[in-house]
Amino acid sequence: MKRFRNLRKDQATRDQHTEVQVRASDFIYPYFVVAGQQKKQPIASLYGIHHFSIDTLLKDIAEVTALGINKILLFGVVDQTLKDEQGTSAYLSDNLVSSAVKAVKQEFPELLIFTDVCLCGYTSHGHCGLINGNEIDNDTTIPLLAQMALTHAQAGADFVAPSAMMDGQVEAIRKLLDSKGFHKTKILAYSAKYASNFYGPFRDAAQSSPSFGDRKSYQMDYRTIDQSTDEIGADLEEGADWVMVKPAHAYLDVIQRAKSTFPQTPLVAYQVSGEYMMIKAAAAAGYLDEHNAMLEILTAIKRAGADYVISYYAKTFVSKITDRVDLTQTNCSQIH
Ligand code: PBG
Repeated sequence: MKRFRNLRKDQATRDQHTEVQVRASDFIYPYFVVAGQQKKQPIASLYGIHHFSIDTLLKDIAEVTALGINKILLFGVVDQTLKDEQGTSAYLSDNLVSSAVKAVKQEFPELLIFTDVCLCGYTSHGHCGLINGNEIDNDTTIPLLAQMALTHAQAGADFVAPSAMMDGQVEAIRKLLDSKGFHKTKILAYSAKYASNFYGPFRDAAQSSPSFGDRKSYQMDYRTIDQSTDEIGADLEEGADWVMVKPAHAYLDVIQRAKSTFPQTPLVAYQVSGEYMMIKAAAAAGYLDEHNAMLEILTAIKRAGADYVISYYAKTFVSKITDRVDLTQTNCSQIH
């Protein structure tokens, strides 16, 4: 008889035998930025998450960096009156996100800043690209995404993160950045992004719901998996530095497949808004212990093979674990 139970005997023994651990430096923390000043408005659909104007954003980032989080992802949320068919406010020079990037970089030069590159928060119709009839047009959209990425790079973003699921978007961005001297700006590609039912709370937060139809003609069908490695492979060829699987909780198999197919590529998984709110809602109803459920799922996302996790839980998670584990300790080996 093998004595497996010796490995689980007590807390100290269990702690010695963990294979996967979630650390502060694994997280990328998302922020929603709005225009104006002194704004910190709770987002009704996303418990614990706010719309920040740039001044209050800087204050929150000071707290988050003090906890050991060193990566953030910025989304711009613009007023309805600024939206048009072409999503112009996304890529005008001195747009909202580029102003935020400049301010954050100046105050936190060590922080890694990621910016979401997509038109859906800026178009009047809420689609991620330009409309032609009833279609979302691929080839006229990608130069606009590249222009948007360029404004973020000029402001000092470390990574631009195209999430529109337009074919060739990574190549278009890489070429424009290189031609303007921004070869050091990296690309985190939302490569395997599925058309998911779990984006609802985000679309409320970013005011980016499509006004007609859905995103199924550009985001992936959840009945597919082989296409995920094709998408990732193409993005890497086009010049992506890091790649992403999104959502995370319902796509652990896709994460595992991505890591085993591309073991050398940094892999990010996005625990999306609906996945976050599912835990929040179950906990609020008394069905689960929030902290333990959060810990289990974030660990599962890493165990599946994610190197980094975008999560609305990042701040809560890290503030809860700091008194229990040494965040500066290096990780135990991970199974992929
Ligand atoms: C933009 C974008 C979306 C999310 C991240 N970037 C929404 C969408 O594709 O509709 C969703 C993130 C979340 O649900 O937390 N395209």
